[in-house]
Amino acid sequence: MTRQILVTSALPYANGAIHLGHLVEYIQTDIWVRFQKMRGHECWYVCADDTHGTPVMLRAEKEGLTPEALIARVHAEHARDFAGFHVGFDNYHTTHSEETRACANEIYARLGAAGLIETRIIAQYYDPLKQMFLPDRFIKGECPKCGARDQYGDNCENCGAAYTANELKNPYSVVSGAKPEIRQSEHYFFKLSDPRCQTFLRRWTQGEGRLQHEAANKLREWLGDDVDNRLTDWDISRDAPYFGFEIPGAPGKYFYVWLDAPIGYMGAFKNLCAREGLDFDAYWRPDSSAELYHFIGKDILYFHALFWPAELEHAGYRTPSKVFAHGFLTVDGAKMSKSRGTFITAESYLQQGLDPEWLRYYYAAKLSASMEDIDLNLDDFVARVNSDLIGKFVNIASRSAGFIGKQFGGRLAACDESLPAIQAIRERRALIAEYYDAREFSKALREIMALTDLANQYVDSVKPWELARQSGREHELQIACSNALNLFRLFAVLLKPVLPALCKKAEAFLKIPPLNWDDGGTLLAAGHLIENYRHLMTRVDKKQIDALLEANRESLLATPDSAPPPKSAAQKPPATAGDTSTVDSGRAEPTLGIDDFMRVDLRIARITDATPVDGADKLVRLALDLGPLGTRQVFAGIKATYDPATLVGRLTVMVANLAPRKMRFGLSEGMVLAASDPAGKAPGIFLLAPDDGAQPGMRVK
Ligand code: MSP
Ligand code: ZN
Repeated sequence: MTRQILVTSALPYANGAIHLGHLVEYIQTDIWVRFQKMRGHECWYVCADDTHGTPVMLRAEKEGLTPEALIARVHAEHARDFAGFHVGFDNYHTTHSEETRACANEIYARLGAAGLIETRIIAQYYDPLKQMFLPDRFIKGECPKCGARDQYGDNCENCGAAYTANELKNPYSVVSGAKPEIRQSEHYFFKLSDPRCQTFLRRWTQGEGRLQHEAANKLREWLGDDVDNRLTDWDISRDAPYFGFEIPGAPGKYFYVWLDAPIGYMGAFKNLCAREGLDFDAYWRPDSSAELYHFIGKDILYFHALFWPAELEHAGYRTPSKVFAHGFLTVDGAKMSKSRGTFITAESYLQQGLDPEWLRYYYAAKLSASMEDIDLNLDDFVARVNSDLIGKFVNIASRSAGFIGKQFGGRLAACDESLPAIQAIRERRALIAEYYDAREFSKALREIMALTDLANQYVDSVKPWELARQSGREHELQIACSNALNLFRLFAVLLKPVLPALCKKAEAFLKIPPLNWDDGGTLLAAGHLIENYRHLMTRVDKKQIDALLEANRESLLATPDSAPPPKSAAQKPPATAGDTSTVDSGRAEPTLGIDDFMRVDLRIARITDATPVDGADKLVRLALDLGPLGTRQVFAGIKATYDPATLVGRLTVMVANLAPRKMRFGLSEGMVLAASDPAGKAPGIFLLAPDDGAQPGMRVK
């Protein structure tokens, strides 16, 4: 029976580049979709950029662009990266589209009609300088539990405590540095606490096979038992200025980005329907027989297993058939890190000339249906790609195809169906299909690779290269090579969901139409003509990996980004003044745009205290007064030139938005500016000082 299947991956944020972590998800989904398509099902794969929200708005401003211009640029970059990894979306749309707006308005109106939307006045932090309400991630302050400074408004990176922004001590706005005020504002809520939502979600989340066991358990925890009403209403509005969709009938109020993000799945599909002449309602009406699957990371389960189905259900749409959550990527056993160079962008991987199918294969070899994290072990990556892809799969063709071209005019002999390897493939095909369908890709590949061992044993036993040297054994040679090429073709069927480009090359050289899953049950006829063999894939060299890490390693002096990094991103270590570890060529640096320069927040600072640091003979600990921005502690490498006591009271210039760095002696929260001659001809280091009249906290530009 032909199934109608709609598949989505989570919509990547439009304010960052695609990296290898993202690709776990898009490659996983793409393999699954390609498999379903090979099976002959009607399967559509849609995705989009997630474009709305404060971070996009602020980033556009910082780059001197309109949000529309920024998201258009990022959309092109994302589409390019996905295509580079052969992620074959049927549509890659944007949430900033009329289709998404129409669906969002419709859902909002229907939830309202069902009595599930309510307004309420809430108190929220407001940046009086920037004149905007601040999301939690744009407020920093001291952790209410451990006192660590410069912690975000939702959790502490030092002690791990979770809290609300109002609990932070000495809060400041990450956007302007100003002390935020509490202001009242009217917000719109989706009434998740309504008994209808609670009852529905308790039933829905425990539906057979709908969520993975680990996910269903998490949901049970979040939902509590029947008596215990755990869900609180969900705040779905944000105040202007905001980049998003204005709420109909509520001027100055916008849908919160997470309201319209999943609706972007619908918008992307609606856009595809118009192009392909598909029936949108057939997929989305409550009694639809089509299947709907969302692939997501475990971090966004809450949105996809609670808010989203509740919205759909109560707005009169169908709900997802299943939600598939995967774990997070680690590289060599650790979180991706910019300083180690393991925060690898999709673009850099391709630019360094690495083959995208190496990564597809490696991820597939690691992926299962569980929510466990998956590790990209770089040595294992090199070993596995070379031994499995080149040594086992490609090798079958490369050791036999040449003889057919050179000695038999490209013509195959009849294949011997009774070969044990062919029999084994026939026996295992159904199981391998089950594994693909169940997202147990690592199991599928283990089976396939075991079968390639049988095939290689066959080639080793008949030794075409020896037959070719003996006269009178031409027919044997032709049969041996034809058998090998038939085996190769059967493996191409099995591996095509994972290796679409390689298999396309294989199809071209075997002169066959695109392979489908059922082609794995047939063999090439005697007399079939093939093309000359062309090289299919190269081996990966460890040096390429080293170069890739180098290209992604962020230098210690890289310009800090003042926007908060995503929770998973690593902090860039800032340098202290007087750091002479970088080489100065004596030439001026390349030019940079004014926008880039303006990202460096330079401020006048008064040194209110200066003390030597025990155990560090170059360092001075400075306490700096930044006026309205508060006080900072900075470690500066200026002890050789300055007696700390003489510094107290004087003004200097500091970089105020450098990410804080934990040092052995304490937290360094910025950098003071000083001049020095890297060649050491004029010894000493010279602190900058402003002219009279400058006040602590003034911006320098
Ligand atoms: N914009 C939201 C999703 C909205 S869906 C309606 C978002 N965007 S994201 O860019 O942060 O992440 C996109 C997807 O990539 C998410 O499913 C996320 O879990 C996944 N990953 C992002 N980093 C990842 C890793 N390091 N490892 C594995 N998956 C990761 O969330
Ligand atoms: Zn803390």
